[in-house]
Amino acid sequence: MRTTVAAVVMVMCSMMVHADVKPQRDFSLQKFAGKWYRVGLAYDSPNFVPYRDKIKASMGIITPLVNGNVNLTMWDVTPVGCVSKLYQYEKTTVPGQFTYFSTRHNMVKDITVVETNYTEFALVLKHKVFNREYTQVALYGRTQRLKPDIIQKFKAFALSRGFSRESILTPPPVENCPPAGSGRQVS
Ligand SMILES: *[C@@H]1O[C@H](CO)[C@@H](O)[C@H](O)[C@H]1NC(C)=O
Ligand SMILES: *[C@@H]1O[C@H](CO)[C@@H](O)[C@H](O)[C@H]1NC(C)=O
Repeated sequence: MRTTVAAVVMVMCSMMVHADVKPQRDFSLQKFAGKWYRVGLAYDSPNFVPYRDKIKASMGIITPLVNGNVNLTMWDVTPVGCVSKLYQYEKTTVPGQFTYFSTRHNMVKDITVVETNYTEFALVLKHKVFNREYTQVALYGRTQRLKPDIIQKFKAFALSRGFSRESILTPPPVENCPPAGSGRQVS
């Protein structure tokens, strides 16, 4: 029963993945693997507004699985310290597009790697599949600071998706999260 429901959800997801945004051409998950920093974020949920000032350029590690799915481990500075969280992205029929079940929002979301050059930056769009509000755009970098023209590209993309200027953030680098010598072993 569970698998049937999951299969139906997966089929619907691959059909409903937004036709208007195309993923990176010839997307390669192997090249996309490894360490990234989230150096830009556009997110306009009202619940998120109080946290905007507290956001840091969190680190994440993309681990491709043999079946084409992805484990993403992200580290975040929280009031109780540096906390890691695992996200499991499931592949769709379209390379560069994934779905995942958000336990926080209790719904399936889809992820599109809109553009990446693998060695420097990645522009990622996240949607709620069944309710398009509170879309999120993230800019990932292989380093904590990216060139101004890439930051501009990210801002222009977020504005073109209807984000307000206040909702487009380029958070400061995170310090010691994960603590040096711990999480980095994962990469
Ligand atoms: C991916 O995450 C799952 C769930 O925690 C874990 O069992 C699995 O070993 C992970 N795979 C890799 C390759 O890290
Ligand atoms: C892609 O990455 C390379 C190497 O890091 C960099 O020199 C180049 O400028 C990047 N290309 C674009 C379009 O940003």
